[in-house]
Amino acid sequence: MSNIIDGVDYGPLAALVGTWKGDKGMDIAPEPDGKEENPFYETIMFEAIGDVTNAESQTLAVLRYHQVVSRKSDDQVFHNETGYWGWDSKTDVITQSLTIPRGVCVLAGGKPNMKGHVTVLDVQAAVDNKDWGIIQSPFMQDNARTNEFYHNITIEGDTMSYFETMVLDIYGKTFEHTDGNTLSRSN
Ligand code: HEM
Repeated sequence: MSNIIDGVDYGPLAALVGTWKGDKGMDIAPEPDGKEENPFYETIMFEAIGDVTNAESQTLAVLRYHQVVSRKSDDQVFHNETGYWGWDSKTDVITQSLTIPRGVCVLAGGKPNMKGHVTVLDVQAAVDNKDWGIIQSPFMQDNARTNEFYHNITIEGDTMSYFETMVLDIYGKTFEHTDGNTLSRSN
């Protein structure tokens, strides 16, 4: 598969383009008295939107994405996330910027890893990381702070698996909020 779409080289991000569906997701989320486990299904759409130039010297190839996640137990959407992935061909740095309705925004960075037909994308951010940070509302900073974010995606052909960890400070303790799923490309 070519990484070039409409004349733009998306490098490792080309593997993500399309609409993905998966129904084997598991969410582990905080509760005042412990944790809840939520089996889920979801759709994630990645769209190639061209490139952007910064300060006339950096060029990023960019995908826009939208992830909609529903609980299996009641078919209600319980996570809705949107953002961008970027790739700088000169430095081979990848970025994920995301926002969620709770009032949390993340700009995570990392490096891609291509192993034959397998593409691995790893990004991370932390509140005390000077390069890749997390911005959140005053309420979230005080009551449900996201201190660290780690995201790993592995793509092989039309199968994608991801695992992400959000290290939270909530209910007076540190909690590892995690999500993972395996999805298939439907177009
Ligand atoms: C598939 C992805 C995700 C799912 C399904 C999910 C689901 C959940 C659920 C079920 C809760 C418990 C509170 C509630 O019932 O609404 C929760 C809490 C939370 N999530 Fe997520 N989440 C996801 C990704 C993220 C990401 C990417 C972030 C931040 C970068 C995040 C930040 C938080 C925070 C700060 C809370 C604590 C707020 C609270 O429990 O009241 N989550 N999430």
